[in-house]
Amino acid sequence: MGEQTKNSGSAPPGHAAADWTVPQNWSGYTADQHAMWDRLYAQQVKLLPSRVTPKFMQGLETLRLSESGIPDFDELSERLHKLTGWSVVAVPGLVPDDVFFEHMANRRFVAGNFIRTPEQMDYLQEPDVFHDVFGHVPLLANPVFADYMQAYGEGGLRAVGENAIHHLARLYWYTVEFGLIREDDDLKLYGAGIVSSRSESVFALDDPSPNRIGFDLRRLMRTNYRIDDYQQTYFVIDSFEDLLKQTLDTDFAPIYAELADGPDYQPADILPTDRVFTHGTQAWAKRGDAF
Ligand code: PHE
Ligand code: FE
Repeated sequence: MGEQTKNSGSAPPGHAAADWTVPQNWSGYTADQHAMWDRLYAQQVKLLPSRVTPKFMQGLETLRLSESGIPDFDELSERLHKLTGWSVVAVPGLVPDDVFFEHMANRRFVAGNFIRTPEQMDYLQEPDVFHDVFGHVPLLANPVFADYMQAYGEGGLRAVGENAIHHLARLYWYTVEFGLIREDDDLKLYGAGIVSSRSESVFALDDPSPNRIGFDLRRLMRTNYRIDDYQQTYFVIDSFEDLLKQTLDTDFAPIYAELADGPDYQPADILPTDRVFTHGTQAWAKRGDAF
């Protein structure tokens, strides 16, 4: 999986609306494509219950996501909208930053409508419907997380004007995509990039290689991330309430100004001020061969 968005300014492809949405075309999926969803779903629900925050499992259940093919976005949106006011809209792939933020600020989650092929079981360049819907949508049923996602969209629109998307994107990456959460003194998964990946669902929690350190907004916003391999550091939040409070109640404009002069930290750095849960060996990142 790559970055979440592409640069602003490009035009939507010919078959897409001005806001980049397209019909999901649910009736166009083949039996093999539905079977691919089922296969990925079965794989993840075997791994996740002991590893993921129970709030994610609750979302899967109340939204009735299941092993019965790729969900119909209209039906799913109807259920989700009743819970938190969010809906799911289809897009052809990555969309520009400003388009992404505008949808999020209005409680619309943009999801790729295509599904990976058997050759792409474990690695994908652009997020597909399994990553986007299985990975992201369950937590949109959680009221606190749902508020965080909308606030992020609004913050994104503001960051476009401040030329600070680059720092804000790290927040999305290290929380929404690759976040860990502390629950009853255990670490649990909640990031969509982790929970939609068979191998990273195990690596992020159990492997001695990566660092696991406490969430710290400014520190995190200074930290580069990897888009080509497992993360070398995962940031651990105390709760969704705490994440929302720390981000919503903080004006990011002065932080962006402060961060502009650097320094930036590398993905594996550990600082004396970090709250360290795991000091990773980084053995995976240092293994020589390619991913
Ligand atoms: N408070 C942030 C700002 O001033 C907006 C934001 C909220 C960003 C929540 C991310 C998450 O821009
Ligand atoms: Fe994602």
